[in-house]
Amino acid sequence: MQGVGPRIAPDPPKDDSIILTARDVTVRFGPVIALNGFTADIPRGVIGLLGPNGAGKSTFIKASLGLIPRDGGAISVGGLDPQTQSLRIRDDIGYMPEHDCLIPTVSAVELVSYLAQISGMGRRDAMQRSHEVLDFVGIGEERYRLVKSYSTGMKQKVKIAQAIVHDPALLFLDEPTSGMDPNGREEMLDLVRRIGATGKTIIVSSHILQEVERVCEHAIIISDGRLVRDGKMGALMAGEEGLFSITVRGDAKDLERFARAFGEACGLVSKTDEGSRQIVLSARGCGDGKRVFALAKEHGVQVRSYIPDKMSLEDVFLQAFQGGGSGGH
Ligand SMILES: Nc1ncnc2c1ncn2[C@@H]1O[C@H](COP(=O)(O)OP(=O)(O)OP(=O)(O)O)[C@@H](O)[C@H]1O
Ligand SMILES: [Mg+2]
Repeated sequence: MQGVGPRIAPDPPKDDSIILTARDVTVRFGPVIALNGFTADIPRGVIGLLGPNGAGKSTFIKASLGLIPRDGGAISVGGLDPQTQSLRIRDDIGYMPEHDCLIPTVSAVELVSYLAQISGMGRRDAMQRSHEVLDFVGIGEERYRLVKSYSTGMKQKVKIAQAIVHDPALLFLDEPTSGMDPNGREEMLDLVRRIGATGKTIIVSSHILQEVERVCEHAIIISDGRLVRDGKMGALMAGEEGLFSITVRGDAKDLERFARAFGEACGLVSKTDEGSRQIVLSARGCGDGKRVFALAKEHGVQVRSYIPDKMSLEDVFLQAFQGGGSGGH
């Protein structure tokens, strides 16, 4: 757009190249350790930053923007250090804070165009751009009313509009659906998807797993100021070696023997008895299934289905907190 500052990514490629790295980052607020050796490599795309209340999500975002100082470790955003190059970085970053950040006594169009001017645009361009982004987020004629008369949903949309007005390559959205009703949430998630589709990298924090599951390509799970797990959404939900579900039918004794052999061969995760001589087994690492079919034949049971099984992000989350996380604590 108006070409202020360096571009973090002139034409962001849709691949896994890393846009942000954090190494052993520590941030303290008095006795509270908000980030405690947080390490992550964040690729381009739509990235979910997940964690329970107080996990350190907002602190990580603010440290990445250079809004709060680090007590240790390093952060690089497109090769720049937010602590020492915060102004340069912010030229190409959009930020939607968690809490209310809008001036209540001006209209949305005035507010957004004012912020566009601060980012370096001329008055006329700023006004035009303000209308464009307010159109994009779905604020209609209400844009001429004072912000203080807006619903929470409208305020959230204006917060996104101000974050994208200078056409940044990287966007931090801190709990964008917070305080919204189900329809508002849908609209907001759709907005996140549409912005992501324009090639921008979006780091979106949330503690609502289903939301992240639906819009993000990659997730970072944080707890107690540490990374507990991260990866592509598909890989996270498939488990590291791939999870499979097999439904077999046969006599009870044969099923029992098969389940034991199958468990030994493939690493049984769960077994469900469906009655009517049928069980469903879930396992990791059984490859293309040749072995499974051979075992079934050997034990005289019939394979009804053999399909890759997906965990929900909730399963991943729970597993991470039961000590399965890569960060471990
Ligand atoms: N300005 C501050 N002063 C003192 N403590 C703080 C401050 N900001 C954050 N903390 C503390 O640091 C920890 C991490 O907070 P942070 O806001 O980063 O968590 P979060 O993951 O964003 O949580 P939430 O989901 O509630 O927004 C919490 O224990 C919080 O109370
Ligand atoms: Mg927060």
